[in-house]
Amino acid sequence: DVIDVRSLGAHNHFTYDPGFMSTGSCESAITFIDGAKGVLLHRGYPIDQLAEQSNYLELCYLLLEGELPNKEQMANFENEITTNTMMHEKIGAFFQGFRVDAHPMAMLCGVVGALSSFYHDDLDITDPEQRKRSAIKLVAKLPTISAMAYKYTIGQPFVYPKNDLSYAENFLHMMFSVPAEEYKVSPVLAKAMDRIFMLHADHEQNASTSTVRIAGSSGANPYACIAAGVASLWGPAHGGANEACLTMLEEIGTADRIEEYVAKAKDKSDPFRLMGFGHRVYKNFDPRATVMRQTCHEVLKELNIQDPLLEVAMGLEKIALEDPYFIEKKLYPNVDFYSGIILKAIGIPTSMFTVIFAMARTVGWVSHWDEMLSQPGQKIGRPRQLYTGYTKRDYADANKR
Ligand code: ACO
Repeated sequence: DVIDVRSLGAHNHFTYDPGFMSTGSCESAITFIDGAKGVLLHRGYPIDQLAEQSNYLELCYLLLEGELPNKEQMANFENEITTNTMMHEKIGAFFQGFRVDAHPMAMLCGVVGALSSFYHDDLDITDPEQRKRSAIKLVAKLPTISAMAYKYTIGQPFVYPKNDLSYAENFLHMMFSVPAEEYKVSPVLAKAMDRIFMLHADHEQNASTSTVRIAGSSGANPYACIAAGVASLWGPAHGGANEACLTMLEEIGTADRIEEYVAKAKDKSDPFRLMGFGHRVYKNFDPRATVMRQTCHEVLKELNIQDPLLEVAMGLEKIALEDPYFIEKKLYPNVDFYSGIILKAIGIPTSMFTVIFAMARTVGWVSHWDEMLSQPGQKIGRPRQLYTGYTKRDYADANKR
């Protein structure tokens, strides 16, 4: 049921809804979620069909344009993306200002925000063409920036994008190629990477997307808005969960300690939560997790990996799925539980997990930002508050306090 509070009139009334559990902030035609039934549709298409039959760049087109592209539209879109993957050489110099042990998300926030200083002559947000160009640049450049952040932390030279590779292949190339040897991208791993991108592409009004919309509602430029989204995504309750999940698996260490951690998660006097379990909206199996789970098993089989952490992950999945606490509270493994395991198997370091989520979500952020700005009568986002401080009191001179 939707109550349109605008009909209550005046600004004398407002709803008090911490965490926006029951507040719709906008109208949107991009993504539909039915958390109780475990449904996720992008522009009407079910995520499992897209994950099976489409690819990340086609999904980007769908999210941005509203329809699936025909062959010619897709070829043009791919061309626009691949011709925008390069970074201004000064960005390389910009990186040198970071400590080498900086978290790549810190670098991503900084570099994405700094992009507005490189494209300041193309930032008229009232012009749909300029907005589209910014969206393309962001989707195209995020893999390059992300891989640069990784290379910087490990002291290797930046690898330039290769435009004859797919989006996922190119990212893996920029991550793992070295001057002496080009990385040979396995089709299974490239497909798994592409699926991870697809499954993180958009998820309606989550914390980071809402952050982007609020930032954009003031007329801020797209790079600043996406930097705000990156910052919001970083938290462990949101995009940081896949990194937090792997850290937790490392802490558990061996399968015989799983029971102990499950008990900790159920103990209400202990703040510990099982990372990678639960979701604000899905109170059923997250449909993205279903696809990720299958991909995860495919990748582990392909690579024939014997990693004790993966054993812990699979053991945890089994135990939590059968535990009455998790069943009763409808806490299922979420997409981040499986994506973390896949990324680890591909050889991506934990510190890059949230960066990859940010890369993939960028298309969702820019789609929502563009949709918001193309809607007539768009208002600045400005929630109210329930004030709990002092009523009026008089200022006292310092020697009377
Ligand atoms: N482990 C143990 N108990 C949990 C967990 C968990 N992971 N998640 C929720 N619960 C319990 C809570 O303690 C609470 O119990 P109570 O009713 O007895 O107080 C109940 O389940 C409901 O939890 P809330 O925090 O009210 O649920 P909310 O919808 O606000 O939180 C969230 C959702 C933040 C995702 C939560 O489940 C969580 O912290 N999970 C771990 C972090 C994580 O994996 N985040 C990734 C989200 S997916 C994404 O960003 C793509």
